[in-house]
Amino acid sequence: MPGQFPPINGRAGVIAGSAEGRSYLIKLMLFGMFGPIEVDNVNYRGVMPSVGSLSDQSIADMLNFIVALENPLTPAAAFTAAEVSAVRAEGKMSGSDVGELRAQLVARGLIP
Ligand code: HEM
Repeated sequence: MPGQFPPINGRAGVIAGSAEGRSYLIKLMLFGMFGPIEVDNVNYRGVMPSVGSLSDQSIADMLNFIVALENPLTPAAAFTAAEVSAVRAEGKMSGSDVGELRAQLVARGLIP
């Protein structure tokens, strides 16, 4: 649906290519996201719900699934439950914090 959900295909593997990008993707699953984002010159103002009540392994599995959707495939190391657990242990964030984190990573060229 244009303007509702940003495309992930072709982007998740690129984002997962840096340590900061991986941490962002995990936080996006744990805490959701709120705030304006722009992908390929299209603006989105939505709310991504948190799926943080799922287990570390389920969150790792979902991230590995979206990275595997890539076409062409951007190779990224597999997410593990231990990696999710370490980010969870850093503490809670709000959805708007995740939106601000995303903006910082865009500014640094780590999110396309
Ligand atoms: C649980 C599986 C899901 C995965 C793996 C996933 C993945 C993602 C990713 C990777 C992004 C950010 C793209 C970027 O940074 O460029 C995103 C954003 C977004 N997602 Fe999800 N998502 C999931 C579930 C959902 C659901 C269930 C909804 C809505 C009911 C949703 C709505 C959104 C919206 C609206 C945004 C943009 C947020 C904003 O504009 O601030 N997502 N999602």
